[in-house]
Amino acid sequence: MSDEIKKGLVGVISDETKVSKVMADINSLTYRGYAVQDLAEICSFEEVAYLLLNGELPTIKELENFTEEEKSERDISENLKNIIKNYPKNAHPMDTTRTSISHMGLEDPETEDNSKEANYRKAVRLLSKISTAVAANFRCRKGQEIIDPDKNLSFSENFFHMCFGKIPSQEVVKAFDVSMILYAEHSFNASTFTSRVIASSLSDMHGAVVGAVASLKGPLHGGANEAVMHMLNEIKGPDQAEEWMMNKIKNKGLVMGFGHRVYKKGDSRVPTMTKYYEKTAAFFKNEKLPKTSQILRDVMIREKNIYPNLDFPAGPTYYLMGFDIDFFTPIFVVSRITGWTAHIIEQFANNRLIRPLSAYNGADHRRVRELKDR
Ligand code: COA
Repeated sequence: MSDEIKKGLVGVISDETKVSKVMADINSLTYRGYAVQDLAEICSFEEVAYLLLNGELPTIKELENFTEEEKSERDISENLKNIIKNYPKNAHPMDTTRTSISHMGLEDPETEDNSKEANYRKAVRLLSKISTAVAANFRCRKGQEIIDPDKNLSFSENFFHMCFGKIPSQEVVKAFDVSMILYAEHSFNASTFTSRVIASSLSDMHGAVVGAVASLKGPLHGGANEAVMHMLNEIKGPDQAEEWMMNKIKNKGLVMGFGHRVYKKGDSRVPTMTKYYEKTAAFFKNEKLPKTSQILRDVMIREKNIYPNLDFPAGPTYYLMGFDIDFFTPIFVVSRITGWTAHIIEQFANNRLIRPLSAYNGADHRRVRELKDR
């Protein structure tokens, strides 16, 4: 293999972005210049969504207008509700989420309009409607009635309302809102890059998001938050954690929720999410889960010097809140739609077709022989 091949595009800088900055060396991530842990503590998810899409934090008036617009777009069509009701019960919710978004593109009045203004409006519509579609799917799969969005509720409260028909304590809502903020954006990760590749051919926003969802599904990317929970359920409790991890390491197994392509000394989002994971566990009086996580983390760092990523605390936090494990990655979509659409708008604003080269290593040039001579 030639030295020039950057397998997995490791270390390749393919474009500029103003949306976020990952500084692995100082363990920091900023959205539009603001440290993500400060945004998580001080702001609501709606403020952060506005920031990602507009480049600035909103004033009171701007936030009012933005939330008004977001709330006015929460309904999904009867047609989409019927499609969701008829999804196969065993279909993975990431696949149904992908299909719902594709259908939204068929219904959107501005699908073919790639102007900045139309793309902004589509971004807000996607933010509002994806949450409704995911919650509808969450209920229909269990044979429950769809609960329509409540326009008096915040984004996170409304998501709980549509999934469970009730809103938990504000402590739990805050933990969910923090996860939404931390999952919202992360520069040129696989799904965001996928969305930019699709946008770069001057395709449309919904298509770019559909591709991003397919990319996020994989267990090496967003799907890791589900895999983390399966792992924790398999381990059963803190008493088995060290032995389980030592065995995994001995057998050179991949431990989900650990490692990162960019962060090698720890993921900047993990301390904040771990704090809210532990608060949520304390709220639900569950000592076993965070203790098990803590042992797994300590052993992995001690033995391999590999640190947990955001999925490691986020997965069990969603579990404690009562979400089905296979809905963890669609919840990631509900948040990351903000980052994806901010990047798609940025790509359209200064586009060049993304088209890398490949190094051919197949058969030498050969002559085609007619069928009878082969
Ligand atoms: N469990 C066990 N070993 C791991 C590991 C993990 N989660 N993550 C990395 N390693 C090992 C690799 O196998 C490799 O070992 P080797 O040198 O003996 O081959 C070494 O650490 C370096 O890996 P690296 O090159 O840094 O990984 P990458 O950048 O290609 O991959 C991930 C990054 C995220 C794909 C990888 O860490 C992973 O698969 N993690 C688990 C899935 C996950 O949590 N994904 C969510 C990411 S936010």
